[in-house]
Amino acid sequence: MKFLYVFTIGCQMNTYDSDLFYRLLAPMGYVPADSPETADLVIANTCAIRAKAEDKAFSFIGRLQTIKAQRPDFHIGMAGCVAQQEGAKILARAPYVDFILGTHAIWRLPEIVETVVREGRRVVDVDMNEALPEARELTERPASGVSDFVTIMRGCDNFCTYCVVPYVRGREMSRPPEAIVEEVRRKVAAGVREITLLGQNVNSYGQKEGLPDFPELLRRVADVEGLLRLRFATSHPKDLSDDLIRAFSEIPQLCHHLHLPVQSGSTAVLARMNRKYSREHYLERIARLREVCPDIHLGTDIIVGFPGETPKDFEETLSLVETIRYDGVFAFAYSDRPNAKAAGFSDKVPEKEKRSRLATLLELQNGITREKNEACVGRVTDVLVEGKNPRRMEGRGDTAGGDRFTGRTQGNRVVHVLPAKGREISVGLCVEVRIDRALGHSLLATQVA
Ligand code: 5AD
Ligand code: SF4
Repeated sequence: MKFLYVFTIGCQMNTYDSDLFYRLLAPMGYVPADSPETADLVIANTCAIRAKAEDKAFSFIGRLQTIKAQRPDFHIGMAGCVAQQEGAKILARAPYVDFILGTHAIWRLPEIVETVVREGRRVVDVDMNEALPEARELTERPASGVSDFVTIMRGCDNFCTYCVVPYVRGREMSRPPEAIVEEVRRKVAAGVREITLLGQNVNSYGQKEGLPDFPELLRRVADVEGLLRLRFATSHPKDLSDDLIRAFSEIPQLCHHLHLPVQSGSTAVLARMNRKYSREHYLERIARLREVCPDIHLGTDIIVGFPGETPKDFEETLSLVETIRYDGVFAFAYSDRPNAKAAGFSDKVPEKEKRSRLATLLELQNGITREKNEACVGRVTDVLVEGKNPRRMEGRGDTAGGDRFTGRTQGNRVVHVLPAKGREISVGLCVEVRIDRALGHSLLATQVA
């Protein structure tokens, strides 16, 4: 038996791939380790989206040097977007790294580990030409939770000017619907009740390959017996069709929740970002969504301080956030990325100004989040129970006390639920609750008797 530790940075796609690493190496005798120190092999699955994420990857592998110095049979691999972007350069920069696994080399991981461990050779595999045979059957079942992810496509063809994804993840490629439905079916049979379909731009699913479109895929997945909830991420506003909007009212399993990255509220900035929509188009799509599905929860991503963003452009972002009143916002300071076009743009916004704009935006959103949290109190909603709450909540605003279960609302808010008197709650059930109290990042609720 050998021990494997995977350190994951970045998006849900990386989380999904890290799970694949465990499953691919299980037939070679690798079992999960609790920490890098107790592992024989450590893989850092990295993210290149912003400079900060990249720094985090290098500082993590840097710390592994001391283990390697003590144990020559300890091996280190670097996977994911930084591995793809930097390739062999990493071996020179970090001589203690044994292999580089590019984003299209995932399925070759067992052979690569074999070469590294048995032959003592270092390997770099950043070939992007081979299609990913995603549907391949694996001997090991994934660890089953209540909620899980299924990749429906990889790569991106959009080339937003700030973004590194098309360079490190390659061109858009969709999996056949049969393979996706089969994977969902297997997961549901193993106890999963909620599936999130993953892709960089799910709205263009299947278009290139002439496959059924995304709303049709949603319908097929929703038909899997036993699946209670369905979500997806991420959508591009330019491709958000009326058909997909209608799916929110037509497919009962589809959660009333949409993450729709706007990036900026200024049409001029959006044009330089190559987003291919205007502020007005985005607002019109949101209005239509709310018409079809009035209780939809909305989330977004915003970049502040994109090159050339004026104080007036930034005001437009603030006013858009105020108009839409999102349930959640992920906000980022613009970061230059090698390869991405905007790295060569002039009029860079100074770091200090970016930080101040970020703080202003977050303060605005925090106020909105607080008001929305307060407005939840007294409402009845359904919660999918994901586990027992390991910690008692007393002292954190919980006056009722007692053991609680933790789950999420359709809007993806974490809720700690107290079972109703004489009723039982179990993991994997969808229960009706009344919200009692809003805490900073979660809600307290009682099961409706
Ligand atoms: N700088 C800052 N934020 C970025 N994002 C993508 N590229 C950059 C960059 N160069 C943000 C976008 C995207 C999210 C995943 O990360 O908002 O939607
Ligand atoms: Fe990057 Fe734009 Fe593709 Fe999203 S749609 S991955 S932001 S290029």
